[in-house]
Amino acid sequence: MANIYSIHDALQKHSIKLLVGIVAAVSVGGLVEIAPLFLIESTIEKVDGMRPYTPLELAGRNIYIREGCYLCHSQQIRPFRDEVERYGPYSLAAESMYDHPFQWGSKRTGPDLARVGGKYSDDWHVRHLSNPQSVVPESVMPSYAFLATTPISGADIADHLKTLRVVGVPYTDDQIANATQDFAAQATPDGAPADFAARYAKASSRDFDGNPEQVTEMDALVAYLQMLGTLVDFPKIVPDADFNR
Ligand code: HEC
Repeated sequence: MANIYSIHDALQKHSIKLLVGIVAAVSVGGLVEIAPLFLIESTIEKVDGMRPYTPLELAGRNIYIREGCYLCHSQQIRPFRDEVERYGPYSLAAESMYDHPFQWGSKRTGPDLARVGGKYSDDWHVRHLSNPQSVVPESVMPSYAFLATTPISGADIADHLKTLRVVGVPYTDDQIANATQDFAAQATPDGAPADFAARYAKASSRDFDGNPEQVTEMDALVAYLQMLGTLVDFPKIVPDADFNR
């Protein structure tokens, strides 16, 4: 009589039957995992506060990518206690949904930067990027002093916004039409006009590099670093008193 042992026996001793059996078992496993992904609209849960980058922040992000900062820095706080204690609330998928390409990184020669926004002053960033060892003597980070003397115009930034819209970033016509103007407005020491704030919530405008004479790549990069991880309001994390015992 055919019981489970004889079926097993037959499969085990016949390579073709075994192969068919393996394919069937793997297919079921694959279907169970993959099919639901086609039935849901998005794998990213929406969170309040996320908005596309301002033109100046986007220019800073482009410099971050150009300079290969991602080779030493990750932008993804993993949901482990030691990471959360050090860097803050773990990263949500929605926080990088407007990143093309994403900057999660795979190596941490330096610390994670996902929530570095607001951790230091603009002045600290300018000094650190110009000469990292002047503020952290043991640092192995290279100097990026040239950023402070390289002017940036933002003439092509509207095209960057348009391109990102093609891949799904919801830039509005208004944001694209005003991109060059918003670029300059965010870096002006006088503060940006109200319509800039209306287009980009929670975007601060100031002279980021400490040189009001011109807009430099340093302005753009610092504007980008200062907004990282600041868009989503996380409930204040109460440190666990038991942890350090
Ligand atoms: C060779 C590896 C390396 C590269 C490339 C690099 N960094 Fe760093 N970075 C470090 C190290 C190591 C530290 C920690 C010591 C320090 O603060 O300088 C650091 C620290 C930082 C910090 C302070 C983080 C914190 O929480 O204290 C910031 C901000 C930063 N880097 C930004 C950048 C940016 C922007 C770039 C690209 C323009 C960059 N880094 C490129 C290695 C690197």
